[in-house]
Amino acid sequence: MSQNLEAIRYKNNKLEILNQLLLPDLFTYEDCSSATQGWEAIHTMKVRGAPAIAITAALSLACELYNLEDQFNLQSLKKYIFDKLDYLCTSRPTAVNLFRMCDEMKFIIEKECLSHENKNLTAQYLKNIFIENAEKLLVKDIQDNMAIGRFGAECFAASKKVKILTHCNTGSLATSGYGTALGIIRFLHAQNKLEHAFATETRPYNQGARLTAFELVFEKIPATLITDSMASFLMKEKGIDGVIVGADRVVANGDTANKIGTYQLAIAAAYHNIPFYVAAPITSIDCSKLSGAEIHIEERPKQELTHINGVQIAAKGIDVWNPSFDITPGILITGIVTEWGVIPKNNKGEFNVKEFLLKKQ
Ligand code: MRU
Repeated sequence: MSQNLEAIRYKNNKLEILNQLLLPDLFTYEDCSSATQGWEAIHTMKVRGAPAIAITAALSLACELYNLEDQFNLQSLKKYIFDKLDYLCTSRPTAVNLFRMCDEMKFIIEKECLSHENKNLTAQYLKNIFIENAEKLLVKDIQDNMAIGRFGAECFAASKKVKILTHCNTGSLATSGYGTALGIIRFLHAQNKLEHAFATETRPYNQGARLTAFELVFEKIPATLITDSMASFLMKEKGIDGVIVGADRVVANGDTANKIGTYQLAIAAAYHNIPFYVAAPITSIDCSKLSGAEIHIEERPKQELTHINGVQIAAKGIDVWNPSFDITPGILITGIVTEWGVIPKNNKGEFNVKEFLLKKQ
């Protein structure tokens, strides 16, 4: 195993992803150098987490374009790229990073085509533009996460070490490195400001037990695993100073889609007067939607509840509801930590995410 946990390994126009279905038992990288392989890796959850999904999609297509035979003219290549991006967007529905990446790539390609109208823009040049921009995502994500770590750590008083509860996986495995919510925990630990981290198991898919716990042990961060049902009691008994979670989509009023179980943590945190922070890069923000009611929530197979590693644990024949994400109302969120700073609330306790973005742009 390498020194750093890397969900995405990209070098010399080759992409490999860590098969997270096999963690924590096996640490296996798989080739992911075509859009079809990228789609499959995202859809089957070999790669997880909003930022990692978008970056995998972009880089898998970049590798495919690099290896593509030279049979395209400009228009046919543009159509090829747009079709592949639309296809990649069908892999999973909730995390907005994937859709934002596709829109931005289309915008860049369109802009290049328009600015070179009537000139000699080649298909090869267009390919290179796509590849360069996909590669930039990988680097930018780590820088953004480190900034989130710094801004997030500043939310806690410097005078005392803190105990933090987190949910799902938001670390290196969910991003191109460092992590968002887990990035803040990492930053607090590096500054000697973390007393202890608590991670939920995150039923039904166990991203917390399988991935976050793995990262915390790997990074030697003092941490304890709990089941999701222990969270309220933990808040009452253990003096938790803050809850920090990630996001798959933050909309204009601050409502946030994140892994199922996030909403109940926010309610419990409010009851216990514990600050509740969402850590999310700007790529997870979707101001085209005014409230969480407009977010499409992915529903996943019932086997994720009824079986563990292929073994049936629930009564045969029972009906199952398995939404993969829930929506936490902005009103329950203390602050949304981005790489541009913490989105504050107004004096009515509401977020205006659009206004924050406009001020910072
Ligand atoms: O369904 P998954 O495993 O992709 O869900 C991951 C999460 O919900 C993360 O908490 C989220 O994507 C935040 S990303 C840093």
